[in-house]
Amino acid sequence: MSLSLTPIDRAKYAAARRAVDLVEDGMKLGLGTGSTAAWMVRALAERVKSEGLRLTCVPTSVRTAELGRELGLKIVALEDAGWLDMTIDGTDEFDANLTLIKGGGGAHLMEKIVATASDKMVVITDASKEVKTLGAFPLPVEVVPFGWQASRMLIEELLGAMDVMGTQASLRMNGARPYITDEGNHILDLSLGRIGNPRQLSLALNQVPGVVENGLFIDICDIVVIGFADGLVELRDIGEGTIERERIIFEDTNNIFRDV
Ligand code: A5P
Repeated sequence: MSLSLTPIDRAKYAAARRAVDLVEDGMKLGLGTGSTAAWMVRALAERVKSEGLRLTCVPTSVRTAELGRELGLKIVALEDAGWLDMTIDGTDEFDANLTLIKGGGGAHLMEKIVATASDKMVVITDASKEVKTLGAFPLPVEVVPFGWQASRMLIEELLGAMDVMGTQASLRMNGARPYITDEGNHILDLSLGRIGNPRQLSLALNQVPGVVENGLFIDICDIVVIGFADGLVELRDIGEGTIERERIIFEDTNNIFRDV
Protein backbone atom coordinates (compact mmCIF):
# COMPACT_ATOMS: atom_id res chain seq x y z
CA MET A 1 0.00 0.00 0.00
CA SER A 2 1.24 3.50 -0.81
CA LEU A 3 2.74 5.05 2.31
CA SER A 4 2.01 8.52 0.93
CA LEU A 5 -1.73 8.17 1.60
CA THR A 6 -2.93 10.44 4.37
CA PRO A 7 -4.64 8.92 7.43
CA ILE A 8 -7.94 10.41 6.26
CA ASP A 9 -7.65 8.71 2.86
CA ARG A 10 -6.85 5.40 4.56
CA ALA A 11 -9.98 5.83 6.69
CA LYS A 12 -12.12 6.68 3.65
CA TYR A 13 -10.70 3.74 1.72
CA ALA A 14 -11.34 1.32 4.60
CA ALA A 15 -15.00 2.41 4.73
CA ALA A 16 -15.30 2.16 0.94
CA ARG A 17 -13.82 -1.36 0.88
CA ARG A 18 -16.23 -2.63 3.53
CA ALA A 19 -19.24 -1.09 1.78
CA VAL A 20 -18.27 -2.65 -1.53
CA ASP A 21 -18.39 -6.08 0.18
CA LEU A 22 -22.18 -5.55 0.37
CA VAL A 23 -22.44 -5.57 -3.43
CA GLU A 24 -23.72 -8.74 -5.11
CA ASP A 25 -23.50 -9.99 -8.68
CA GLY A 26 -26.22 -8.58 -10.94
CA MET A 27 -26.97 -5.54 -8.79
CA LYS A 28 -27.99 -2.12 -10.05
CA LEU A 29 -25.99 0.36 -8.02
CA GLY A 30 -26.01 4.11 -7.41
CA LEU A 31 -22.53 5.61 -7.23
CA GLY A 32 -22.08 8.69 -5.05
CA THR A 33 -19.87 11.73 -5.54
CA GLY A 34 -16.89 13.09 -3.61
CA SER A 35 -13.51 11.87 -2.44
CA THR A 36 -14.88 9.01 -0.30
CA ALA A 37 -17.20 7.87 -3.07
CA ALA A 38 -14.24 7.94 -5.49
CA TRP A 39 -12.50 5.37 -3.26
CA MET A 40 -15.64 3.27 -3.43
CA VAL A 41 -15.68 3.43 -7.25
CA ARG A 42 -12.06 2.26 -7.30
CA ALA A 43 -12.73 -0.58 -4.85
CA LEU A 44 -15.80 -1.60 -6.83
CA ALA A 45 -13.86 -1.66 -10.09
CA GLU A 46 -11.26 -3.91 -8.42
CA ARG A 47 -14.00 -6.38 -7.41
CA VAL A 48 -15.53 -6.30 -10.89
CA LYS A 49 -12.13 -7.03 -12.40
CA SER A 50 -11.12 -9.79 -10.01
CA GLU A 51 -14.52 -11.52 -9.58
CA GLY A 52 -16.22 -10.75 -12.91
CA LEU A 53 -19.26 -9.19 -11.19
CA ARG A 54 -21.93 -8.01 -13.63
CA LEU A 55 -23.11 -4.64 -12.31
CA THR A 56 -25.08 -1.76 -13.74
CA CYS A 57 -23.99 1.55 -12.21
CA VAL A 58 -25.81 4.87 -12.08
CA PRO A 59 -23.55 7.85 -11.29
CA THR A 60 -24.64 10.92 -9.31
CA SER A 61 -22.40 13.37 -11.18
CA VAL A 62 -20.42 13.85 -14.34
CA ARG A 63 -17.22 13.36 -12.26
CA THR A 64 -18.31 9.97 -10.99
CA ALA A 65 -19.51 8.90 -14.43
CA GLU A 66 -16.09 9.72 -15.89
CA LEU A 67 -14.21 7.87 -13.15
CA GLY A 68 -16.47 4.81 -13.44
CA ARG A 69 -16.10 4.62 -17.22
CA GLU A 70 -12.34 5.08 -16.96
CA LEU A 71 -12.18 2.10 -14.57
CA GLY A 72 -14.33 -0.10 -16.81
CA LEU A 73 -17.67 -0.01 -14.94
CA LYS A 74 -20.92 -0.21 -16.89
CA ILE A 75 -22.39 3.27 -16.48
CA VAL A 76 -26.01 4.04 -17.37
CA ALA A 77 -28.42 6.89 -16.64
CA LEU A 78 -31.08 6.48 -13.93
CA GLU A 79 -33.74 6.80 -16.64
CA ASP A 80 -32.39 3.62 -18.23
CA ALA A 81 -31.73 1.68 -15.01
CA GLY A 82 -35.13 2.20 -13.37
CA TRP A 83 -35.03 1.13 -9.71
CA LEU A 84 -31.70 0.42 -7.97
CA ASP A 85 -30.70 -2.19 -5.40
CA MET A 86 -28.31 0.01 -3.47
CA THR A 87 -26.58 3.40 -3.51
CA ILE A 88 -23.22 3.96 -1.82
CA ASP A 89 -22.22 7.57 -1.20
CA GLY A 90 -20.22 9.84 1.10
CA THR A 91 -21.56 12.52 3.42
CA ASP A 92 -20.55 15.84 4.93
CA GLU A 93 -22.20 15.23 8.33
CA PHE A 94 -24.33 12.49 9.90
CA ASP A 95 -26.10 12.09 13.23
CA ALA A 96 -27.30 9.12 15.28
CA ASN A 97 -30.52 8.81 13.19
CA LEU A 98 -28.44 8.74 10.00
CA THR A 99 -29.81 12.10 8.96
CA LEU A 100 -27.20 13.58 6.65
CA ILE A 101 -25.98 16.89 5.30
CA LYS A 102 -24.75 16.39 1.75
CA GLY A 103 -23.84 18.61 -1.17
CA GLY A 104 -20.40 19.88 -0.17
CA GLY A 105 -19.35 18.62 -3.59
CA GLY A 106 -22.36 20.24 -5.24
CA ALA A 107 -24.08 17.01 -6.29
CA HIS A 108 -26.81 16.58 -3.65
CA LEU A 109 -29.71 16.94 -6.09
CA MET A 110 -28.68 13.97 -8.21
CA GLU A 111 -27.45 12.15 -5.08
CA LYS A 112 -30.87 12.47 -3.43
CA ILE A 113 -32.76 11.37 -6.55
CA VAL A 114 -30.51 8.33 -6.97
CA ALA A 115 -30.52 7.40 -3.27
CA THR A 116 -34.32 7.58 -3.02
CA ALA A 117 -34.62 5.44 -6.16
CA SER A 118 -32.71 2.67 -4.34
CA ASP A 119 -33.81 -0.07 -1.97
CA LYS A 120 -30.95 0.85 0.34
CA MET A 121 -28.56 3.77 0.88
CA VAL A 122 -25.17 3.06 2.43
CA VAL A 123 -23.09 6.01 3.58
CA ILE A 124 -19.32 5.72 3.82
CA THR A 125 -17.32 8.12 5.95
CA ASP A 126 -14.47 8.74 8.32
CA ALA A 127 -15.30 9.31 11.99
CA SER A 128 -14.83 13.11 11.84
CA LYS A 129 -18.22 13.58 10.15
CA GLU A 130 -20.32 12.19 13.00
CA VAL A 131 -22.09 14.96 14.96
CA LYS A 132 -24.57 15.15 17.81
CA THR A 133 -26.50 17.97 16.13
CA LEU A 134 -26.27 18.73 12.42
CA GLY A 135 -25.38 22.18 11.15
CA ALA A 136 -21.71 22.96 11.71
CA PHE A 137 -21.25 22.10 8.03
CA PRO A 138 -23.02 24.74 5.87
CA LEU A 139 -26.23 23.33 4.40
CA PRO A 140 -26.19 23.40 0.57
CA VAL A 141 -29.40 24.42 -1.19
CA GLU A 142 -29.59 24.13 -4.98
CA VAL A 143 -31.52 27.02 -6.58
CA VAL A 144 -32.32 27.85 -10.19
CA PRO A 145 -30.24 30.78 -11.51
CA PHE A 146 -33.36 32.82 -12.43
CA GLY A 147 -33.99 35.25 -9.57
CA TRP A 148 -31.62 33.45 -7.18
CA GLN A 149 -31.24 36.66 -5.14
CA ALA A 150 -34.99 36.66 -4.44
CA SER A 151 -34.81 32.99 -3.40
CA ARG A 152 -31.93 33.87 -1.09
CA MET A 153 -33.90 36.69 0.57
CA LEU A 154 -36.88 34.39 1.15
CA ILE A 155 -34.60 31.69 2.56
CA GLU A 156 -32.90 34.11 4.96
CA GLU A 157 -36.30 35.34 6.08
CA LEU A 158 -37.64 31.86 6.74
CA LEU A 159 -34.47 30.88 8.62
CA GLY A 160 -35.41 33.54 11.18
CA ALA A 161 -38.41 31.39 12.14
CA MET A 162 -36.51 28.07 12.24
CA ASP A 163 -34.64 26.33 15.06
CA VAL A 164 -31.17 27.31 13.79
CA MET A 165 -28.40 29.59 15.04
CA GLY A 166 -27.46 31.46 11.83
CA THR A 167 -29.42 32.86 8.89
CA GLN A 168 -26.75 33.67 6.32
CA ALA A 169 -27.02 32.19 2.81
CA SER A 170 -23.91 32.56 0.62
CA LEU A 171 -23.79 31.99 -3.10
CA ARG A 172 -21.19 29.28 -3.81
CA MET A 173 -18.51 30.55 -6.17
CA ASN A 174 -16.12 28.88 -8.59
CA GLY A 175 -13.37 31.50 -8.78
CA ALA A 176 -15.00 34.76 -9.88
CA ARG A 177 -18.20 33.10 -11.15
CA PRO A 178 -21.11 31.38 -9.43
CA TYR A 179 -20.68 27.63 -9.11
CA ILE A 180 -22.84 25.74 -11.63
CA THR A 181 -24.13 22.27 -10.77
CA ASP A 182 -24.39 19.41 -13.27
CA GLU A 183 -28.06 20.35 -13.65
CA GLY A 184 -27.16 23.97 -14.48
CA ASN A 185 -28.19 25.53 -11.16
CA HIS A 186 -26.53 27.59 -8.39
CA ILE A 187 -25.91 26.62 -4.76
CA LEU A 188 -26.58 28.69 -1.64
CA ASP A 189 -24.61 27.50 1.41
CA LEU A 190 -26.52 28.18 4.63
CA SER A 191 -24.40 28.90 7.72
CA LEU A 192 -26.73 27.57 10.40
CA GLY A 193 -24.43 26.49 13.23
CA ARG A 194 -26.98 24.00 14.47
CA ILE A 195 -30.17 22.52 12.99
CA GLY A 196 -32.66 21.80 15.78
CA ASN A 197 -35.39 20.38 13.55
CA PRO A 198 -34.02 19.04 10.24
CA ARG A 199 -37.41 17.77 8.99
CA GLN A 200 -39.17 21.11 9.49
CA LEU A 201 -36.27 22.97 7.89
CA SER A 202 -36.11 20.65 4.88
CA LEU A 203 -39.84 20.96 4.20
CA ALA A 204 -39.76 24.75 4.57
CA LEU A 205 -36.74 25.23 2.30
CA ASN A 206 -38.25 23.15 -0.48
CA GLN A 207 -41.35 25.41 -0.42
CA VAL A 208 -39.34 28.49 -1.47
CA PRO A 209 -39.81 29.31 -5.17
CA GLY A 210 -36.54 28.70 -7.01
CA VAL A 211 -35.30 26.06 -4.56
CA VAL A 212 -34.69 22.77 -6.36
CA GLU A 213 -33.46 20.66 -3.41
CA ASN A 214 -31.68 21.01 -0.10
CA GLY A 215 -28.84 18.84 1.20
CA LEU A 216 -30.67 17.27 4.18
CA PHE A 217 -31.15 13.51 3.74
CA ILE A 218 -33.86 12.39 6.18
CA ASP A 219 -35.04 8.76 6.46
CA ILE A 220 -33.06 7.91 3.33
CA CYS A 221 -29.88 6.35 4.69
CA ASP A 222 -30.02 2.83 6.17
CA ILE A 223 -26.42 1.93 6.89
CA VAL A 224 -23.30 3.90 7.79
CA VAL A 225 -19.82 2.46 7.39
CA ILE A 226 -17.21 4.40 9.39
CA GLY A 227 -13.57 3.85 8.48
CA PHE A 228 -10.45 4.51 10.54
CA ALA A 229 -6.87 5.05 9.39
CA ASP A 230 -5.67 1.72 10.85
CA GLY A 231 -8.16 -0.22 8.72
CA LEU A 232 -10.81 -0.65 11.41
CA VAL A 233 -14.36 -0.29 10.10
CA GLU A 234 -17.64 -0.03 11.97
CA LEU A 235 -20.86 -0.86 10.14
CA ARG A 236 -24.06 0.40 11.78
CA ASP A 237 -27.36 -0.79 10.34
CA ILE A 238 -30.15 1.28 11.89
CA GLY A 239 -32.92 -0.86 10.36
CA GLU A 240 -31.50 -4.05 11.88
CA GLY A 241 -30.19 -2.29 14.99
CA THR A 242 -26.79 -3.96 14.58
CA ILE A 243 -23.18 -2.78 14.83
CA GLU A 244 -20.33 -4.84 13.32
CA ARG A 245 -16.62 -4.13 13.55
CA GLU A 246 -13.80 -5.61 11.49
CA ARG A 247 -10.41 -4.69 10.11
CA ILE A 248 -9.58 -4.14 6.44
CA ILE A 249 -6.16 -5.44 5.39
CA PHE A 250 -4.75 -2.76 3.11
CA GLU A 251 -2.11 -5.09 1.62
CA ASP A 252 -4.89 -6.94 -0.25
CA THR A 253 -5.54 -3.98 -2.49
CA ASN A 254 -3.44 -4.89 -5.57
CA ASN A 255 -3.27 -1.86 -7.83
CA ILE A 256 -5.87 0.36 -6.29
CA PHE A 257 -3.42 2.99 -5.03
CA ARG A 258 -1.38 3.02 -8.22
CA ASP A 259 -2.85 6.21 -9.68
CA VAL A 260 -3.54 8.06 -6.45
C1 A5P B 1 -21.23 15.66 -2.97
O1 A5P B 1 -22.16 16.61 -3.34
C2 A5P B 1 -21.33 15.44 -1.50
O2 A5P B 1 -22.60 15.13 -1.04
C3 A5P B 1 -20.33 14.41 -1.02
O3 A5P B 1 -20.86 13.12 -1.00
C4 A5P B 1 -19.93 14.78 0.33
O4 A5P B 1 -19.61 16.15 0.25
C5 A5P B 1 -18.75 13.99 0.86
O5 A5P B 1 -17.62 14.31 0.13
P1 A5P B 1 -16.18 13.80 0.56
O6 A5P B 1 -16.24 12.31 0.58
O7 A5P B 1 -15.25 14.34 -0.49
O8 A5P B 1 -15.91 14.38 1.92
